[in-house]
Amino acid sequence: MHLEKLAPWRDFCEAVRQARPDPAAIRLIKAAGLSIDLSTQRHSADFEVNAQALLKVAGFERARAHLFDGHPVNASEQRAALHTALRGSQAPEAVAQTVSSSLARMGEFVEQTNAANRYQNIVHLGIGGSDWGPRMVWQALRGIGTRRELRFAANIDAHAITNALEGLDAKDTLLVIASKSFTTIESITNAQFALDWMKRGGVLDPLAHTVALTANPQAAQAFGVAPERTFAFWDWVGGRYSVWSSIGLTIALGLGWQTFMAMLASARAMDEHFLTAPPETNAPIQMALSSVANSSVLGFHSEVICPYDARLTDFVPWLQQLQMESLGKGVTQNGEPLGVNVSPATWGMPGTDSQHTFFQWLHQGQEGAPVDFIACLEPDHPSANHHRQLFTNCLAQRAALWQGKSKKQAFDALVAKGMSQEQADALANHCVHPGLRPSTLIVLPRLDAHRLGALLALYEHKVFTAAVLWGINPFDQWGVEFGKTLARQLITNASDLSEFDASTQFWMSTLNEQLR
Ligand code: F6P
Repeated sequence: MHLEKLAPWRDFCEAVRQARPDPAAIRLIKAAGLSIDLSTQRHSADFEVNAQALLKVAGFERARAHLFDGHPVNASEQRAALHTALRGSQAPEAVAQTVSSSLARMGEFVEQTNAANRYQNIVHLGIGGSDWGPRMVWQALRGIGTRRELRFAANIDAHAITNALEGLDAKDTLLVIASKSFTTIESITNAQFALDWMKRGGVLDPLAHTVALTANPQAAQAFGVAPERTFAFWDWVGGRYSVWSSIGLTIALGLGWQTFMAMLASARAMDEHFLTAPPETNAPIQMALSSVANSSVLGFHSEVICPYDARLTDFVPWLQQLQMESLGKGVTQNGEPLGVNVSPATWGMPGTDSQHTFFQWLHQGQEGAPVDFIACLEPDHPSANHHRQLFTNCLAQRAALWQGKSKKQAFDALVAKGMSQEQADALANHCVHPGLRPSTLIVLPRLDAHRLGALLALYEHKVFTAAVLWGINPFDQWGVEFGKTLARQLITNASDLSEFDASTQFWMSTLNEQLR
């Protein structure tokens, strides 16, 4: 169903345009231990009434029930998307049982490995959804306590795997090949490279020190990984939603089983909130409505993510894949062109680095972008001075984006600093901030497994809700296939490139010369 064809759409658009900030109002939602402050998003009583009408006509409640019940919500691939079942949320009985046996196997493996005090190092080889989740969680939580050293390599650029292996003792290393399909060229090539490295490092049977995390166990076995070292997941787990599946084994080995369990529990708490909180206080729903308002009504083409916590640097690409692979579509579920501006680009960087990189554009660029600020109340370091400055900067940037500064305010401030009226008048034009640039502030009491899971699930459900409103499938990614096919063609048909343009042919022959 096209959003713009839904009867309440026009009223919703009008309500968004009319909504004006009320500096005296706070709109704060508490969900699964997170505080989500939406005070600086367009909102009003009218907005809420029309938003709810929109959700109703888009069939949101039914779609949400279908997600958890295991309906084939991924219509173009005829699959369910049951990542919520992986964290023990409401699910079909048979699925819940399969998940629980898989978790039991993973738990046993972790326990045995710990008891035997094996493997100081884990090298995780995956890409996209088989990489960003564990990589981001490791970066976020490693400061709290680790059991082992984790290294990650994803890129087909051998500099990545070479760096990942540098300085490791091959005899004390477990290789983890993480690939849902077990056909992804990057992961398989890196795995072969790492197995050779182990052999050179004195390991007689490297495959005996390798595990596979995959939804294609047959391919893992054909590669040489024994069934007892293969931890399966299922086609109903989307790659970018797979950190909760056996793909999380790396987290459990590196950060501890309890940490992995705490992440699942906190995501489950967010599932519960998403399923039961009324729409007006339902954090993922309200974040999705803001996203739709910002993209499809106000015309913003991107969403910026700025965690004010350096440990969340990799949260940015994790979210980038979640949002852009899920929502970066040009047609509706029925294959019809979309009638409104959807699926904003997602990009960002932690604060305060981002302030010195692209905030100029956010404050005064012609278009700007809505920003999600993420901050933690309690740091895991003792420097109150750093933390006060970090958190305060986050609040100040958000206030500046929303409040704006008129020419008169800019002029008065310059004159108050002692500038002549003539100079101040000229300079004031450069100091105007349009303001009314929306943002959301998400505050975690502390960055730990008990909150990180909820944060990830919050965004998963926000993306799902936006997809329902936009009428698109957030669980497929057909757009990534064409480029992969052409790459295969270039590698395998290197002698006949006649189907390619002159520039591609030129660079392929230059490369072939170089590698000759
Ligand atoms: O980039 C496309 C993609 O299919 C992603 O959706 C996925 O996360 C990634 O490749 C890795 O795929 P796999 O887990 O099958 O190796």
